[in-house]
Amino acid sequence: MAVIGGGTMGLGFAELLSGAGLTVRLCDASSELTRQSLERLGERVRGHVEARLLEPAAIERAASVEGADDVAAAVQGAELVIEAVPEQLELKLEILPAIEAAADPEAVITSNTSSFSIKELSGAIERRGRFLGMHWFNPPEWVPGVEIIPVEETEPEVVERTQELLRRLGKRPAVVGDEVGFVANRLQSALLREALACVREGLVEPADLDEVVRSCFGFRLPFFGPFRILDMAGLDVQLSVFETLEGGLGERFAATDAKDDLGSRVDAGRTGTKSGGGFFDYSDEERDRLLIERDRRYAALAELLERLPPL
Ligand SMILES: NC(=O)c1ccc[n+]([C@@H]2O[C@H](COP(=O)([O-])OP(=O)(O)OC[C@H]3O[C@@H](n4cnc5c(N)ncnc54)[C@H](O)[C@@H]3O)[C@@H](O)[C@H]2O)c1
Repeated sequence: MAVIGGGTMGLGFAELLSGAGLTVRLCDASSELTRQSLERLGERVRGHVEARLLEPAAIERAASVEGADDVAAAVQGAELVIEAVPEQLELKLEILPAIEAAADPEAVITSNTSSFSIKELSGAIERRGRFLGMHWFNPPEWVPGVEIIPVEETEPEVVERTQELLRRLGKRPAVVGDEVGFVANRLQSALLREALACVREGLVEPADLDEVVRSCFGFRLPFFGPFRILDMAGLDVQLSVFETLEGGLGERFAATDAKDDLGSRVDAGRTGTKSGGGFFDYSDEERDRLLIERDRRYAALAELLERLPPL
């Protein structure tokens, strides 16, 4: 495995991959910066061991990460390359061909860009069948989700193999389309935009807004995404919420398409778990099981949060 860029994300990849017993080579912008990155990797892993998040053996594994003097040396023989240099288009367009030129023809090359079009980046690559976007979240050694962004030419087998590797590392990949912001950043930005508006309008102080997000609807998010939550709440209920928000808050809340998405289902009698189906289908048994499992998980999370010391 090769990690290009030993910053916030690159060190997380090196920690995760070496911790899983994989051979890892890392390179930064110069030999000196690579040496410093490896030093920081050691400190980071020792910190996790001291906090009892990792077994002491992780220190030795992290020490096995080899520094490479340049990109070519880093990628030689690697099955997977993760590009994690700063978010500068020119730099990425320069690094990707250098990676490809020295990598095995079979190597899978990925970019951890958080905003650039993967199609645009793929323009710098000749073997596009083996290229894809792999958008991780900070800190990548602990956050399980990874967005996988194939381009048109990416071979399905490469997408499959990358997902398998991620699952073996304990991650939870999701394949998403190559549109600006992919999916996660688009959703996060929608929330953030509205959070800033609520504070700007004097509706709430930042600390209370954080509490609302964490403890109200955010409390459910470790277990369910918006579609499952909608099914349990009722699509008809949300439809009416959309209408009320539009009436009270005006044009900015005109959710015409979203109301159509829900309205067509509601008209077809698909209001969610209470009617046997919404975005997903449920037999009576499946619905009962889901609801009791939901409550079991919420109770377990509430208890865990109660036990954790305040931040
Ligand atoms: N930080 C995050 O929360 C986050 C989350 C998701 C994705 N990303 C993406 O991951 C990528 C890396 O982000 P980061 O936060 O780790 O950045 P960073 O600035 O912390 O680290 C980038 C590293 O790349 C090195 N570098 C610069 N030029 C290089 C070169 N030519 N060859 C090798 N290394 C070089 C830098 O010296 C630095 O150590 C970016 O594309 C970013 O958008 C970041």
